[in-house]
This record gives sequence, C-alpha cells and structure tokens, in this order.
Amino acid sequence: MSKKIASARISEKSSQLLQDLNNSLPFDKLLYREDIEGSKAHAFMLAQQGIISKEDYGKIETGLVEILEEIESGIFTLNGDDEDIHMAIEGRLTQKIGDAGKRLHTARSRNDQVALDFRLYVQRSTKEIAEFLLKNITTLIKVAEEHTETLLPGMTHLQHAQPINFAYHMMAYASMFKRDYERFISSYERNNYSPIGCAALAGTPHPINRKITAEKLGFYTPTLNCLDTVSDRDFALEILFNVATMMMHISRLSEELILWSASEFRWVTLSDRHATGSSIMPQKKNPDIPELLRGKTGRVNGNLVGLLTVMKGLPLAYNKDMQEDKEGVFDSVRTALLSLRVLDEMIAEMKVNTEQMEKACMIGHLSATDLADYLVREAGLPFRDAYHITGNVVNLAEEKKMDISELSLSDLQSIDKRIGENVMILLDNRASMNARRSEGGTATIRTLDQIKSLKAWLLAQG
Ligand code: ARG
Repeated sequence: MSKKIASARISEKSSQLLQDLNNSLPFDKLLYREDIEGSKAHAFMLAQQGIISKEDYGKIETGLVEILEEIESGIFTLNGDDEDIHMAIEGRLTQKIGDAGKRLHTARSRNDQVALDFRLYVQRSTKEIAEFLLKNITTLIKVAEEHTETLLPGMTHLQHAQPINFAYHMMAYASMFKRDYERFISSYERNNYSPIGCAALAGTPHPINRKITAEKLGFYTPTLNCLDTVSDRDFALEILFNVATMMMHISRLSEELILWSASEFRWVTLSDRHATGSSIMPQKKNPDIPELLRGKTGRVNGNLVGLLTVMKGLPLAYNKDMQEDKEGVFDSVRTALLSLRVLDEMIAEMKVNTEQMEKACMIGHLSATDLADYLVREAGLPFRDAYHITGNVVNLAEEKKMDISELSLSDLQSIDKRIGENVMILLDNRASMNARRSEGGTATIRTLDQIKSLKAWLLAQG
C-alpha cells in the first residue's frame, strides 16, 4: 500500500532492512486519533475553500469516521507494512472510497501532517498531566491539614537543623508541584498554534485557509512561518523538560519516603498496598514503589537529552532524523501519568508516625538557634558572640547527654550569666517551631497561611 501511494520515483521494492529502519508505524500508530482528526479538519477546510467538492468531502469525512471505529474495535489493526500512521490511514481511506481518498493529501505534506498530529498529542498530554498534578497537590494539602502541629526535625545536609512541622514539609512539595503545573500550562499556551497548511516547507499555491483548520482543531491561530513549523520540535522538548523536572521532584519526595520508612527513622509507614516483600528474607517490607518512582527519573532524563541531541545540527527544514522524536515523548508521558497516579495513592494512604517524628526532635539541639537569637534580642549581643556562647551551651548538653531543651536554668547560666529565666520557654521545640513566624516560615500559623493560599490558587484553576 505505502509503496503505491508514496513512491513515484522508486521502482524497486524496498529491502526488508530499510523497512525495519524506516517504518514508524509500530510506534506512531499511537497517533491514530490525532491523524484522523487532523485529516477531517483539513478536508473540511479544502471543501470550504472550494479546493475539493462537497461530495468528496462527505466521502472523506464518513470514511475517516469509519476508520476510527475500525481501529478502536480492532478490525483495522495497524500492524501492516505501511511506512507510518499517515500512510496507513490514507491507504485505508482510498481502499474504502477510491478517488476521493486520493484528494485528501491536496495542499498537505506528511511534514505538516506529522507536526500537527504530534503537537495535538503533546498538547493533550500536557493538559492531562497538569490535571493529575492538581490532584496530587490536593492530596498533599489534605495530609498537610492533618499535621500542622506535628513536629519533625527540619534538616540541612541531612543533619538535624531546626524543628518544623510536617504540614510545612508537605507544603514544600505542593509548592514544587504548583510550579510544575504552571510550567506545563505555559508550555501549552506557548505552543498552541496550528502547523497544518504549511505543506512540505514553503506553504502551498492552493487557496487554503489555515485559520479554519486552526480553529477547528482548538489552536489559537496558525503558526507564523512554515519553514520553522515543519522542523520545530520545541513543543516536544518542552514536555520532556517539564516531565523531567516534575519527575525530579517526585524522585526527591520518594527518596524521603524511602529514608523515612527505614528502621532508623520509622517516620512513615507505607501502606502494605505499596510495599513488597523479599523472596528470601521473610521479615522484609521494601519500599519498591518510591524506589521505582526515583528510578524513573533516569529514563525521562534520557528522553530529554535524546531529543535535544537529535535536533542539534539539523539543517532546515524536515529531516528524517526527526522521526526519532516520538518514542521518548510517548515514554515520558506514560511514565509521568503512571507516576503521578501511584504517588497520589501512596501519599493518601501512608501512615505518619507522629510520635517517632517528635521523638527525633530531641536529637540534635534543634532549638540552639533560638538561644542565640535570644541573646541577640534580650542581651544585645552581636550575633557572632551569641553564636559562640550557644556553642558552649551545646557542648555542655552533649557532656550531660541531654538535649539543649532539657538543660536547667542553672546549667545555662553556668555558661553565661546573661541568660535569663525567660529563655526556658523558648528552647522547647514546639515554641521554637512557632517562633519562625516570618512570611513563608514554619510556624503553624504561617503554614496555615500557605495552605490557605494554595487552596485559593487551586480553586482559581477551576
Ligand atoms: N513518519 C514520519 C515522521 O514521523 C512522517 C513524516 C515523513 N515525512 C517525510 N517527508 N518523509 O517524522
């Protein structure tokens, strides 16, 4: 079939090896919906402009609707030796309706056709991923709302630093996902322009109207320059980058869940539905799910670098190298959607071990900074001096095998007489957390502000 419709100059049958290398149907058949929709819009426009007859348009439209049904019901399997999805569908159409089918490709090339199909796919996938991100943000907020008072050690360098609350920690990830969402939406908007009607590279002498197809397919307007359009894959690179960045965030959260599930922490318990056993050690419960989410970053990063490398150095306009654009994008989209769904379920079902977290706050003198701040505020000391005095207090606590918050007033005053009784209440971990009331800080009231603000933002996304 493909030989007949697309090889005016080639007389010999192509070698099997060429077909194995050249044919993209095994993977671009995923684009059958977009291809049919694009062809319907193109045929509609051709008829509107009087380039094909209304009668031919009627046949094409009906034929394409039937082909869609044939594909979805499995009658037309897309496993033939057609070169790609475009040839397969056009070939089937011509088989069904004869000459009218052969008129469909008027004023069109596979170059603008594939640019259209792929862009439609990317735009839709972008919206779909963005929707799942909103769902994940909602779930994180729900967990946060239950834990605005749950203390845990905030860390830097993976060392205990200052007490924070668990809601604050969850809201950090919700903030990342909000940025991810905004990145997907801005890519959608930047790329929502129609490639169809660009033909091979230079436009067409036929009196087409690209605004008609653009509008029918849900694009804002046609793209500006055809030479650019048929060789532009920025939209594909953007979704790959957006997925890679989002997966990097998911990977960081997964890494924390893995750590927190370890016996050394036991801050969370993942639902049995999200853990697996070991084939040899009967006592084990392994966090395979967050490990896989962490591991998936490898392939999505690879997909991004892969396409950047394909595009680098291509002369204008279309080159067959660009057929390599699709599999990585399909893989990243599939990975993103699955990962978001799994993550959402896992977060919703995990158990937060409040007591373990709070117990961990008694290690590491988390309120040491509060003592230094106190000496600055109450005794008027320069911060550097206050810092050294506090260091001595921490040494004393270490000697006594106590946390700084457990020292008595006389212990504290044995280091510096300027430490007054009113410091005692400040060294308590909860007080320390609630003292950080600056905007964006961890104090429960500030965390509640963040929750409120993100909920308002969610509502505004509709
Ligand atoms: N299968 C091709 C691709 O995915 C379609 C475009 C082919 N165009 C061409 N002039 N060979 O890129």
